[in-house]
Amino acid sequence: MSKNHQKVVLIGDGAVGSSYAFAMVQQGLAEEFAIIDINKDRIHGDALDLEDATPFTSPKLVYDADYDTCGDADLVVITAGVPQKPGETRIELVDKNLKIMKSVVDPIMASGFDGIFLVAANPVDILTYAVQKFSGFPKNKVVGSGTSLDSARLRVALAKKFGVASPDVMANMMAEHGDTEFAAYSSATIGGKPLLEMAKEAGVTDEELLQIEDDVRHKAYEIINTKGATYYGVATCLMRISRAILRDQNAVLPVGAPMNGEYGLEDIYIGTPAVINASGVARVIEVPLNEREQKAMADSAKALKKVATNGLA
Ligand code: LAC
Repeated sequence: MSKNHQKVVLIGDGAVGSSYAFAMVQQGLAEEFAIIDINKDRIHGDALDLEDATPFTSPKLVYDADYDTCGDADLVVITAGVPQKPGETRIELVDKNLKIMKSVVDPIMASGFDGIFLVAANPVDILTYAVQKFSGFPKNKVVGSGTSLDSARLRVALAKKFGVASPDVMANMMAEHGDTEFAAYSSATIGGKPLLEMAKEAGVTDEELLQIEDDVRHKAYEIINTKGATYYGVATCLMRISRAILRDQNAVLPVGAPMNGEYGLEDIYIGTPAVINASGVARVIEVPLNEREQKAMADSAKALKKVATNGLA
């Protein structure tokens, strides 16, 4: 990855992809940004529209492209896939989106791509695992958006509850980016103080914390039921993970990371804090979990493995 000229390729220019592209242009995080999608008019129009922002920021090169452009890319971000409909779970998308993912990864690999994959289509933990299998890449070079969005949602909710700014809430949603995720309350802190101690002092009950966890689990459904889709939150999470990779930051972020024995798990991608840099997932941070959280992690992994086994059989 050359430090002075970085190239990002976005695969999938739907609501999430287009919002991510805009976020990347706004943040000036790459010198070259290519967009690939089956809808050629859409990507041509988006590229023309986004380039009008480049006098004020970078990338200086924004264009619509075909898969051969991936060959010298530093980062390929995949948002291509069918999004959830109102009431639809992410897992219900698995068959359709596995087929789309295969049709995307094959031409990317044919281009000679040897950078980092960032995957955001749902069910994202299964599709991240699938990208690693389809590409044959080392596991660390394939990163999933995982529970980055869910953790942001948890931080927003806890910030409101405890009257602090959300960037100052250190808390993670972990496991599946989906209905089996959980809030790792036992390791959460605000200002270095354990959240559970703050809750006791503030009279915030366990029931209220469990309600917040459930509200986070269901926030996507509420957004989809009201505005039809979610995109700004996830696009900003993708931008943040992209920054960690492109700037080689060693940032600790909750992502979809490959398990190699952490939490007693193998051969699965799942939401956990990890160190993210130019190598992708540099290392997983195995967060201490209490009994409730350990069970939730094991249950979530079991549910994911069942879907992955069926889907990738
Ligand atoms: C959500 C989608 C990105 O949680 O899965 O909003």
